[in-house]
Amino acid sequence: MATEKTFYLETFGCQMNAHDSEKVIGTLRHQGYRQVETEEDASLILYNTCSIRDKAEQKVFNRLNDYKKLHKAGKRFGVLGCVAQQEGAKIFERAPYVSLVSGSASYRKLPEMLMRLEAGENRITGLDDRQTDETFETEYTARQNPYRGYITIIEGCDKFCSYCVVPYTRGKERSRTSSSVLDEARRIAGDGYTEIQLLGQNVNSYRDPEGKRSFAELLAAVGEVGGVRRVRFTTSHPRDFTRDIVDVIDAVPTLCDHVHLPVQSGSSRLLKLMARDYTSDWYLERVSWIKAARRPIALSTDIIVGFPGETADDFIQTMDLLAQVQYDCVFGFKYSARPNTPALTMIDSIPETEKAGRLQVLLDRQREIQRVNYAKHLGQVLEVMVEGQNPARGQVVGRTSQNKPVNFTCAQPIAPAPGNYVQVRITGTHPNSLVGEAV
Ligand code: SAH
Ligand code: SF4
Ligand code: F3S
Repeated sequence: MATEKTFYLETFGCQMNAHDSEKVIGTLRHQGYRQVETEEDASLILYNTCSIRDKAEQKVFNRLNDYKKLHKAGKRFGVLGCVAQQEGAKIFERAPYVSLVSGSASYRKLPEMLMRLEAGENRITGLDDRQTDETFETEYTARQNPYRGYITIIEGCDKFCSYCVVPYTRGKERSRTSSSVLDEARRIAGDGYTEIQLLGQNVNSYRDPEGKRSFAELLAAVGEVGGVRRVRFTTSHPRDFTRDIVDVIDAVPTLCDHVHLPVQSGSSRLLKLMARDYTSDWYLERVSWIKAARRPIALSTDIIVGFPGETADDFIQTMDLLAQVQYDCVFGFKYSARPNTPALTMIDSIPETEKAGRLQVLLDRQREIQRVNYAKHLGQVLEVMVEGQNPARGQVVGRTSQNKPVNFTCAQPIAPAPGNYVQVRITGTHPNSLVGEAV
């Protein structure tokens, strides 16, 4: 009797990876695999990996090592995602019990790779597709999030920021047709998804292969799909961010009032070294468009501190930008040198303690900015989409259109389920969340 085909999949990294995993799970299920919760229960163990920062590849090898004994019990291992693409066949040398190594640009070939795996083949790779024009689309996507439906609109990245691995791990930029994006949006709205999040490493460089719609027009069209109540998109790149995006947020009520616009640094000198291809003035002009919108649009960003050669003065310019923009949320990172990137050859002379110190100064200042920002919501009634419960505190948790977390109480005996929309009066504020009661 053939043993049952089961798989365990663990995902690291960004939303693109999370959504890739949804497509991988769907593909595996279609091939007759059943998902299980532990490595021990699986016949195939997969890690969908991330290599954006730190010693990411080391973490993957440690994890593989932890479970290596399972190989003797006949289990197979596969490494997917960005570490797979980055390390390639070297993975077989360091972890000979791995049978499959595939980057995201090759997932279209997963059904074929799985068949070879089942036929007993080892050292199967999907690594040669970084120059492909094709995107990975499947009707079998197994969405794991019950209320937020991810849709990829553009894969890869052609920006080659000097610190970043993504162009090497995810391949060149390729957009999906707007018709296929809209078909998928209609299909998942039909399945009951009311929030759609459009994904890409740089959604602003979206180019419809059919030439029918610009990114802003695609946003509007997704926002107008029947049943859709919220549309988000990530990530925007300041170089390609156009004014019509703000206009369309103003015009289409279902588009969330939030833009994530990573700046990385407030110093134009550093931005140049980072190959970001804009200056702080260019960035601030885009911020001024967003701030001039009729609806208040929340702004969030990513910042890297301690990039090679960042002086105390460069850092002060980042702090000045923070004070000027007054972000609603900031993701701060210490620079970490990554394989293959041009910044690897720059002298990374800033001590770890100095990087950590700068990061702390940045996050402390931002906390104060957010304290003031969030306090402005006191007394407002905001629409919150429920994401879950916090039974210990008797609270329902959810998010506003601006993407701010809200913890609220509800008079009804049965709390609203995830995916429901509730009007909440804000009765308290913190630097990172709001507190309220359902009205
Ligand atoms: N495509 C998106 C996101 C890229 S990864 C964008 O361009 O904004 C998310 C964030 O990780 C980046 O915005 C950057 O702030 C951070 N990051 C990327 N590479 C890094 C590195 N080598 N060291 C530290 N932070 C990094
Ligand atoms: Fe990396 Fe820059 Fe591309 Fe973002 S835009 S994924 S930071 S290379
Ligand atoms: Fe990580 Fe790859 Fe995403 S490096 S952040 S999983 S694009």
